Amino acid sequence: STRTLFLLPGDGIGPEAMAEVVKIIDHMNTDAGAGFVTDTGLVGGSAYDAHGAAISDADMAKAMAADAVLFGAVGGPKWDDVPYEARPEAGLLRLRKDMQLFANLRPAICYPALSAASSLKPELVEGLDILIVRELTGGVYFGEPKEIIDLGNGQKRGIDTQVYDTYEIERIAGVAFELARTRSNRVCSMEKRNVMKSGVLWNQVVTASHKEKYSDVQLDHMLADAGGMQLVRQPKQFDVIVTDNLFGDMLSDVASMLTGSLGMLPSASLGAPDETTGKRKAMYEPVHGSAPDIAGRGIANPIAMIASFAMCLRYSFNMIAEADRLEKAIANVLDQGIRTGDIMAPGARQVGTNEMGDAILAE
Ligand code: NAI
Ligand code: MG
Repeated sequence: STRTLFLLPGDGIGPEAMAEVVKIIDHMNTDAGAGFVTDTGLVGGSAYDAHGAAISDADMAKAMAADAVLFGAVGGPKWDDVPYEARPEAGLLRLRKDMQLFANLRPAICYPALSAASSLKPELVEGLDILIVRELTGGVYFGEPKEIIDLGNGQKRGIDTQVYDTYEIERIAGVAFELARTRSNRVCSMEKRNVMKSGVLWNQVVTASHKEKYSDVQLDHMLADAGGMQLVRQPKQFDVIVTDNLFGDMLSDVASMLTGSLGMLPSASLGAPDETTGKRKAMYEPVHGSAPDIAGRGIANPIAMIASFAMCLRYSFNMIAEADRLEKAIANVLDQGIRTGDIMAPGARQVGTNEMGDAILAE
């Protein structure tokens, strides 16, 4: 069968990291008949240079049609002064919006070999494996009214509005429960029902869909501020955390620091299942940006990009064994003491992007 992947390497270290994923794709095709068909487009500053837009309509159409999109990173000082609507991030935002990627999955996995690099005590994070499911297309970042009004007395008022409808909460909860079933079968929902009406509704809808469809999964509720505290105090108590756009933004950034380095963190963004095929639109990308400070030197850590591809295998293609094998290969290479500069440790062997990719491929 054919599996279509649309690659958007982007700017800075994006293309350097993507090249290491392409090696793995080629290997899976030639050695295991995986049947991946890839096409490559431009996004971010490189798209602006070519088309005057952060992503062209033609590339946008290819992203919409592909089984999955792999995204590198965008941005850099070269494009700091381009018009606002053509800024590199606009490409990313258009992809998320047009593909309606409402579920953002951010795993926080602490590889045993890196537990010493965490901001926490090694024993608190060793073996950590949590998944934060953040609602990405609703809530206070998008709700109306959203404005600054002049009150006329020398005062202004800034307004953002938190809005969540039942269907938005139901679909993100559904993603969290379904993912929990493939993991340790536990979901913790976080909101602020003590002070927010949208939090009351969030809690009610998650509770109702749990009762109706997912009662085999263990469900807990936590106030989001207490959840932030527990993430730092005892992170291994969590399996899947589901939360809204704003809390998810903050909690996933907190969780990322449990794991060591920005160069290690993958993410996935999923849309609703297609009505006829049942397939979800999906985009996979590292959490890090284009790292202009190290771009072009062949020293970037490709692991976040490679781990994003592992998520793609798992969630878009149901290639669970292959995803497990790729993640195990990353862990093995780290165990062998092979490191890029950003995760370098005493006694380890420092390698560049290319060698790190080769070492993972060999494993
Ligand atoms: P950044 O993530 O690009 O870099 C932050 C620091 O981490 C830098 O010192 C960088 O060298 C290091 N780093 C990041 N990824 C690494 C990797 N794979 N291997 C080794 N070291 C790595 O964030 P920064 O510096 O705030 O932004 C740089 C540019 O990237 C900006 O133009 C920003 O707008 C853009 N950006 C793009 C994102 C995206 O495409 N999704 C996300 C975040 C920032
Ligand atoms: Mg953030």
